[in-house]
Amino acid sequence: QELKLNLEEIEKGGFDHFMLKEIFEQPRAIRDTFRGRLLTDEAIVKMSGVEDNMKKFLNADRIIVVACGTSWHAGLVSEYIFEDLARIPVEVEYASEFRYRNPVITEKDVVIAISQSGETADTLAAIKLAKSKGAFVFGVCNVVGSSIARETDAGAYTHAGPEIGVASTKAFTTQITVLTLMALRLARAKGTISSSDFRRYLIELELIPEKVKKALESDAYVKTIADIYKNAKNFLYLGRGFNFPVALEGALKLKEISYIHAEGYPAAEMKHGPIALIDEQMPVAVIATKKGHYEKVVSNIQEIKSRKGKIIGIVTEGDKTVKDLADHVIEVPETEEFLTPLLTTIPLQLLSYHIAVMLDKNVDQPRNLAKSVTVE
Ligand code: G6P
Repeated sequence: QELKLNLEEIEKGGFDHFMLKEIFEQPRAIRDTFRGRLLTDEAIVKMSGVEDNMKKFLNADRIIVVACGTSWHAGLVSEYIFEDLARIPVEVEYASEFRYRNPVITEKDVVIAISQSGETADTLAAIKLAKSKGAFVFGVCNVVGSSIARETDAGAYTHAGPEIGVASTKAFTTQITVLTLMALRLARAKGTISSSDFRRYLIELELIPEKVKKALESDAYVKTIADIYKNAKNFLYLGRGFNFPVALEGALKLKEISYIHAEGYPAAEMKHGPIALIDEQMPVAVIATKKGHYEKVVSNIQEIKSRKGKIIGIVTEGDKTVKDLADHVIEVPETEEFLTPLLTTIPLQLLSYHIAVMLDKNVDQPRNLAKSVTVE
């Protein structure tokens, strides 16, 4: 028993929990994910699974993403990225809904299945259905040799390494990394972005691990925010565009491990309901990076403030406007708009982690949840 405990301590590498270790591993995990694929000097993105099937991708009428949980959120981020860079229409589906809906699927559809474990029953069933209708199915998995990795026609692994914490962290950011590489490769092949933009984007992507490291420096400050709001009954998370799915993911992280009720919403949709909940008891995390509807998000923040909600802004380094309005601001480095989710996610992971620890919850193995859901 003692030996087992010691082994676990070693595996945690000096961190109190696997989740925290995995949050801090993200600079390395993201770098591992683009190693050998992102060749900035040669201005190339190399992904054999995409290369070997380029015709299928280029002839596709649309991409359908199927996934569950956090992987579904990564899929939502990819919708914005694929459409913006590669101009391919994307639909993002909960695998559990897709498989039972009698969906319209044709041979001209490319289905991308995203799964950390590669074992999620609903995602696996959705793949089988899509294959039976003749669609080309591409897998984005973390676990090598998993069922979904084997069942798909081609794929690209995220090289995040084993993820032990039930709440997914590094799997999410590496999934976004793989999907971004794919979108860049397809955009180049389709000519939907210029070669100079392409080069610039590759250089920016290569800088992301360093910027994630920088974002992680907010840890101590995020902990002080966690201490202030740990007893809140509800939390709201808002974002727009590329960062709308990050708001959903931020809320999911908090629910999963702290058992505090949290909702993620597109910031502009707030006025159609959630605004009714805002009072001085309600912390609202708002992603308000400089690029991406900044002015609009600022006006959403003003709406929250006038109703006395407590505002936690996730902002670009050096931001002044939100700083004046918000109760707290957490800075992340500046980057291309489509890459901001890789940075804005970080403080939200830390916030949920610290709140759960302060509430004395089982961070790595939250009640009622499983790391991989192999039954429906
Ligand atoms: C479970 C896990 C989540 C995960 C989801 C999908 O609910 O607790 O962290 O996002 O399954 O899992 P997958 O392995 O398919 O990404």
